[in-house]
Formats: sequence, C-alpha cells, structure tokens
Amino acid sequence: LSPEHFNLTLVNWASKYGRHDLPWQQHPTPYSVHVSEIMLQQTQVTTVIEYFKRWMSAFPNLLALANADEDEVMSHWQGLGYYSRARNLQKAARYLVDEFSGHYPRTLKQIEQIPGVGRYTAGAIVSFAYNERGPIVDGNVRRLFCRYFAIEGVPSTTEVNNKLWQYAEHYTLAKNCRAYAQSLLDMGAMICTPKSPDCPNCPINDSCQAYQTDRVAQLPTPKPK
Ligand code: ADE
Repeated sequence: LSPEHFNLTLVNWASKYGRHDLPWQQHPTPYSVHVSEIMLQQTQVTTVIEYFKRWMSAFPNLLALANADEDEVMSHWQGLGYYSRARNLQKAARYLVDEFSGHYPRTLKQIEQIPGVGRYTAGAIVSFAYNERGPIVDGNVRRLFCRYFAIEGVPSTTEVNNKLWQYAEHYTLAKNCRAYAQSLLDMGAMICTPKSPDCPNCPINDSCQAYQTDRVAQLPTPKPK
C-alpha cells in the first residue's frame, strides 16, 4: 500500500478496534507521554497502568520530579525493574528545568537531546503529545514491519534497524499523527503479535509480504542462539 493508504487503513482499523482508554491516552502531555513510554519500554501495559497513575499523582509535572528526593523517586519505581530508567527520568526533568525553563522543546532533534530519550521515545512524544510527525520503531513496529515488508535478517543488526527506520520515515505522514502512531502499537499488540498473529483479521493482510508468501512464522528473523 502507499503510505497514504497504509495510514488511512490502520487509523480506520484502530478507530474501531484499537485501545482508547489507557490512562496515558487521556490528556497526553510531553511529560505524561515521556513517563509512560519509559515505563512501557521494558514492562507490560497491564503492569504499567497502576505505576503510571501513582507516578503522575506523586510527580504531576517536571518541576515536581526535578525537585523530588531521589529516594522518593525510586520508591515509586519499586517493582518495575531497570531502575536506571527512574534515575534518567529525574535527570531529564532537571535538564529540562535547567535548559528549557521546565518546558519540553518542540522539535524531534531537541527532544532527542534529553537524557535517556532515544529516537523512539522522541518520536512518541512528538506523535502522542503534539500530534505532529514523529516516526517510531519499537518492538511492535519492528515485528509488524519485518512481516509486512518481509524484511529478512536479525532486527537488532544495524542494517535491519536502518531499514526499519527508513520504512518508518517513509510511512509516517504529517497527518493523523497521534492516531497513526497508536494504531501501529495497537496492531502490534492485538493483531501482529509475536506468537499466533491474528492474520485473518488483519486489515492489511492483502498487502502483507509475509502473509502472502506464508512466512509470517519465520519473520522477524529470530536471533541465533
Ligand atoms: N507500548 C509502548 N507504547 C505504548 C502506548 N503508548 N500504548 C500502548 N502500548 C504501548
């Protein structure tokens, strides 16, 4: 499909079948998107929901997080694991307070300079908070793209990673930015799942290169052990 048609098909699918009631979808701000996306990096949605709500009550904005005691910050992360994520969030808050008077910058380039923010998180902040064009490649998008475009090779290699980001750039339009980004994640979580993907109900199975050539189970290429 053309990027235009791909975008419209996924956004239309997500309007009917996607998730619309996750707590971080309710009033997305750059800060709330930042917090939720960092939590979601290594932790399941169902676990993150309560942690996210508690965190936002304890540290409702950047200034509150920047001024909090480290012990207080860590106690709100207790149980989530990968604790450097919490320390990085506070580092980011202090950086934004010091360098940008407590306001998130507007451009992808500037957002990527925030400590602990990579290309994915920057794209997510721009898409979800600003509803502006921000390409994203996370585990969900990686799986969907490897299948849809029949990308061979281990996804963690530089070569495959570069290809994935090229597709993401090409297929991310400056329209429906928030809905399109969410539709990719919903597709990856609900249809194009790691095991037994629900291909018969996939809105883009007609043009999925893996499905059409019966290679869904072989893609993405597994890591050699
Ligand atoms: N996984 C990563 N980011 C997500 C989001 N914003 N919503 C649901 N699942 C996600």
